[in-house]
Amino acid sequence: MSERSGIFAGDDPFALSQAWLDEAVKSEINDPNAIALSTVDADGMPNVRMVLLKDIEADAFVFYTNYGSVKAQELDAQGKASFVMHWKSLRRQIRVRGLVEREEGPQADVYYASRSLKSRLGAWASHQSQPLSSRSALMAEVAKVTATKGPNPPRPEFWGGYRIRPLEIEFWADGAFRLHDRFRWTRADCKGKWKVNRLHP
Ligand SMILES: Cc1cc2nc3c(=O)[nH]c(=O)nc-3n(C[C@H](O)[C@H](O)[C@H](O)COP(=O)(O)O)c2cc1C
Repeated sequence: MSERSGIFAGDDPFALSQAWLDEAVKSEINDPNAIALSTVDADGMPNVRMVLLKDIEADAFVFYTNYGSVKAQELDAQGKASFVMHWKSLRRQIRVRGLVEREEGPQADVYYASRSLKSRLGAWASHQSQPLSSRSALMAEVAKVTATKGPNPPRPEFWGGYRIRPLEIEFWADGAFRLHDRFRWTRADCKGKWKVNRLHP
């Protein structure tokens, strides 16, 4: 532990993640909060896609999506996920592996309400991950929900958040000659105490 200093210092990996993200907000051109979210299907076939990390809580990471999507089906079936955030300008990454649960209460309502009206209506119109016959069919669906849902649509019950409670978090920073710095935080369960190990690059 004592060897950790500078950008790796601290005893709270969520605060550290937030500090790294805050730095990335200043340096990245687009979407500093983008994460590559990985799931597995029932056959163990991995799947990955980008989503936006919306909250770093005291003990979890939160993002939002459609509960009918492929990712949601895989998350609900397996209860596990991993993700990586990579910042090209900072040359750093954070890797996370953990257990997932839905966030479909008032917190999801508040986040949904904070989105632009067009995004809120888009969430109603999109049957995410389902086949779509044409772009115009989607736009017709948008026009339909715009006419029927009014200016203050409620959060669709098929749309909400997931909270990832990590069992493992790795902080990685680029080093000269590929001699990178890596610190892996692990805990046996979500209430456990964190252990930190430095890893070979
Ligand atoms: C930068 C970026 C951010 C994205 N953010 C989200 C997001 O927050 N939620 C989401 O459902 N899809 C997001 N998407 C779209 C997903 O990558 C993906 O296409 C979609 O969720 C369907 O994935 P699935 O079929 O595996 O469920 C984002 C895509 C990109 C490139």
